[in-house]
Amino acid sequence: MTAGAPGGVAGAGLPVVLDGVSDKDAQPVAAPRPATLRQVMAQYPTGVTVITSRDPDGVPRGQVVGTFLRVSDEPELVGFFAMHASRTWLATKPTLTQFCVNIVSDHQEALCQSLASGSAPGLTGIPHSASHDGNPALHGAIAHIDCTVEQILPFGDHDFVVGRVTHAHHVSAAHPLVFFRGGFGRFASTSRTGNDHDFRAQLAEVDLLRPEMDALAAATGCAVTINALDGDETVVVAAATQAGPRALRVRVGQRLPFAAPFGSLEAAFGPDALRQRWLDADVTTGNTREQNAAVLDAVRARGYMISYGHDAHARIVSAAQQLAKRDPARRAEYLAELRNFDAVYNGKGSAGLPPEFAAGELRSIAVPVYGFDGGLAYGLTLWGPARPVSRAEQGTLVTAALRCAGACSGILGG
Ligand SMILES: Cc1cc2nc3c(=O)[nH]c(=O)nc-3n(C[C@H](O)[C@H](O)[C@H](O)COP(=O)(O)O)c2cc1C
Repeated sequence: MTAGAPGGVAGAGLPVVLDGVSDKDAQPVAAPRPATLRQVMAQYPTGVTVITSRDPDGVPRGQVVGTFLRVSDEPELVGFFAMHASRTWLATKPTLTQFCVNIVSDHQEALCQSLASGSAPGLTGIPHSASHDGNPALHGAIAHIDCTVEQILPFGDHDFVVGRVTHAHHVSAAHPLVFFRGGFGRFASTSRTGNDHDFRAQLAEVDLLRPEMDALAAATGCAVTINALDGDETVVVAAATQAGPRALRVRVGQRLPFAAPFGSLEAAFGPDALRQRWLDADVTTGNTREQNAAVLDAVRARGYMISYGHDAHARIVSAAQQLAKRDPARRAEYLAELRNFDAVYNGKGSAGLPPEFAAGELRSIAVPVYGFDGGLAYGLTLWGPARPVSRAEQGTLVTAALRCAGACSGILGG
């Protein structure tokens, strides 16, 4: 059958054009081979979980599993299929009485790749602690579901493992990791969620703050920006800049992950759920959860966030944006840059001031702006000038930024 046959036009002897190619030019195309079930199933996206348990020696183990499903509500049963050939399953099955389902977030791709490759035994190098019922619980997962083994049934080359839920805990609002056509990806909503509406309303509201931003920029000669949270990213939604040859350019629309080393202002001054989400999301700094919590406490106690080092910051923003493109070949390099940056980003008081400060490289001062409900609405950032700044001048800039943020909060009714 020719390409044009269904419409009957080819039968009239006229050349048929599909996508600009005449059927006279067409090369014979091999008949499609029937696809295997595996190929067809690759068209169906799955979520990603890590099933954790202990092997007979008590060693924590983890297996990446995409076949996790809810089996029953009453009683609460869940299940997954384990390949007979999996070394992890072979090692854990004989003594398995309980396990934990970790629903992993889209920040945990590297962890899943490493686990699925079987390169390192068990959970070596993967941060985890005891779940509610004593199973290994991965840090940074969205949810932990503890189960006892209800039944294990063989089907073909897999076992169907049914678990009775003993404890289910939703620990973070991060987005899930998904698996589709042989690769990892992230979830994007096509519907207008409550968050989208919130974000759009915020953009209109920010216009009200423009006179205050312009006044601060004029008084200090510095660029001033407003940041808002949009899902799991922070976005520059407005900028007031001073024209000048060395003026700093911060693009409106610039997005950075809401994860350390970024977003500490929102995490420090936002509600507790936001703080927990930020603590869960860190995959870059190499800090422990406690160290990151201490950073937030310090920012809160100080009343603002301060960072030093112009080049360091520019490099890190670029690394974060490259990281977001998810090129596995360069991931390690970008992560290393982010780690190096962390020390600079959150100056921890005079004792810990980074070397950049010696050159007076004040990068940014970020202060909270509150909305009518009294909660954090935006972050206002004053960007340090491209010239040395003394300690005294830094103090003046902090005072000016705090005063401006106070005026902005007043406008919003906060
Ligand atoms: C996205 C994804 C989903 C997977 N789902 C399953 C699954 O449902 N069941 C399973 O036994 N293995 C699954 N695997 C394979 C295992 O994670 C792992 O690669 C396999 O157990 C081989 O490693 P091992 O021999 O070290 O256990 C999946 C792997 C990936 C990357």
